[in-house]
Amino acid sequence: METTIYYFSATGNSLDFAKKLASQLKTKNLQAIPEIIENDTIQCNSDRIGIIFPVYAWGLPRIVNDFIEKLRFRANPYIFAIAGCVGIPGKTLKVIQNILQKNYADLDAGFVIKTPCSSLAKKNILDDIIISLDRKKKHLKTGDERLGEIVSVINKSNAHKPETSSALANYFGSIFHEHATDFFRKASLDFEVSDKCTGCGTCVRVCPKANIILDGNTPKFSDNCEFCHACIQWCPEFAITHPNFTPGKEQYRNPNVRVKDLVVNA
Ligand SMILES: Cc1cc2nc3c(=O)[nH]c(=O)nc-3n(C[C@H](O)[C@H](O)[C@H](O)COP(=O)(O)O)c2cc1C
Repeated sequence: METTIYYFSATGNSLDFAKKLASQLKTKNLQAIPEIIENDTIQCNSDRIGIIFPVYAWGLPRIVNDFIEKLRFRANPYIFAIAGCVGIPGKTLKVIQNILQKNYADLDAGFVIKTPCSSLAKKNILDDIIISLDRKKKHLKTGDERLGEIVSVINKSNAHKPETSSALANYFGSIFHEHATDFFRKASLDFEVSDKCTGCGTCVRVCPKANIILDGNTPKFSDNCEFCHACIQWCPEFAITHPNFTPGKEQYRNPNVRVKDLVVNA
């Protein structure tokens, strides 16, 4: 059975899990979503299709939403998705199911795994409200803890209902997701680049939206940001910041992933 796994990853957590899963499922077909997102449609003829990505603001990153809308396949593939998050997945996997159903397919299995936090943004009142509404977050397990179970479900092509947060957290999360996504899109216009920047261009290379160019030695940002933090977290000098960041919070990168693994714009 041929399996293709698509992933989106900014700080490496999703890629790390995608690699572990690919090894267990004995597939070498691992495809980064940013590399193909500009295609009008994305054709996949595999029997099994996986999608691995981080949760952003209780929902789908824009790039993953666009990818699923463009995805085309042969009749009846087995489709699974894995959402990585710190604690609140919202109803992200149900959103994937809805998009697939509009394309006459379905999400056969949807899992949530707990990951370290990639975001440097300050928590706000909405975060506090939604976190307090989500009683399931304490029970989330890491990808390493769930790998065997997930592999077993997929290998048997079993159904596994998309996992979500509690109903109230899902309700409020989905309302606020749209607003957060609008904020994310333009967030890069407020990025500040300190004089530690050496103009090395790492930020340009890892940006999944090609939203950054080098003007001389200085990164310049457009208004098509995913707010994925790749440019900030992989900057060797930690030179990019945003007024909304938590003071003193340290850079985060998944320890099993290298910057070269995430380069989109070579
Ligand atoms: C902009 C942004 C928004 C996030 N929103 C959520 C969220 O709503 N719920 C959650 O549990 N984690 C949230 N996270 C945490 C990420 O989902 C998590 O750290 C993920 O593992 C990052 O994956 P990656 O390393 O593959 O990029 C957010 C991270 C970022 C950068």
